[in-house]
Amino acid sequence: MQRAKSTLPRVYVTRKIPPEGLKILSQSGEVQYELWDSDNPVPRQELLKRVRGVDGLVCVLTEKIDAEVLDAAGPNLKVLSTMSVGFDHLSLDELKKRGIRVGYTPDVLTDAVAELTVALLLTTSRRLVEATHEAKTGGWGTWRTLWLCGYELANSTVGILGLGRIGIAIAERLMPFKVKKFIYTDVAPRPELASQIQAEYVSMEELAKQKLFSQMKNTAIFINTSRGGVVNQEDLYEALSTGQIAAAGLDVTTPEPLPTNHPLFTLKNCVILPHIASASYTTRNAMSALAANNLLAGLRGEPMPKELKL
Ligand code: DGY
Repeated sequence: MQRAKSTLPRVYVTRKIPPEGLKILSQSGEVQYELWDSDNPVPRQELLKRVRGVDGLVCVLTEKIDAEVLDAAGPNLKVLSTMSVGFDHLSLDELKKRGIRVGYTPDVLTDAVAELTVALLLTTSRRLVEATHEAKTGGWGTWRTLWLCGYELANSTVGILGLGRIGIAIAERLMPFKVKKFIYTDVAPRPELASQIQAEYVSMEELAKQKLFSQMKNTAIFINTSRGGVVNQEDLYEALSTGQIAAAGLDVTTPEPLPTNHPLFTLKNCVILPHIASASYTTRNAMSALAANNLLAGLRGEPMPKELKL
């Protein structure tokens, strides 16, 4: 906890964010902040107590910022800065109603997330987790002609659900693997973005009408690095266990953490990561720094480097 002049705006930081952001807050001399100095989430009751009367709040994606937290904070709260690009943990209506400005951290994590998505795609398509397990546990008898065969990215079709910065970055990384075709779906066609990767639009309506997994080829691989809520996990389990699709790679699940006895963990063709897509030192520090700069700009009444339009 940093102590500073009592006239400075008070800020609560709900987690030990990476050092770049804390350095910016400390060196600014513009705020006095209190930190939940832990790698684990702040308990809800503690959060409700600590936010009382603050002018600014820095949070991460595990904190649900809803009417209860905002009421507990009270009318001084002017700025919320989340160290995440996702904002499904924020009640945007409640924030808007109270005139609280919101900062978030797009762009700085695009490379890290795209990289991890490609890694997850290669891991599942070439069955790397199964293969290392076999090598380590004695399953590697001799070289066999079709043992542990997977699917190549060369000549494949890659579909992107939600074409944004990250989708484009993934496609750019996949191009050298000789992918044959990119298709995408979104709330509306995004021709300017799509032209960067020569992707063809498939309407969301068309997609929603169909049961996605049952329409996929049995060689299809499903990757999710967005949010667990975009997929029905029971349907996914069914599709993977019956061979309706070949494999899945998930960096996000519902809930998080996914209980270790969850059926998806029993499947060899499902690789589950603990929400690490943005987890590189460079990116997490950049997110931390951006979150700090958003907060400071917001408290000064200036445009934030990355402000969410409410
Ligand atoms: C985000 O920022 O929303 C990611 O899910 C974690 O970096």
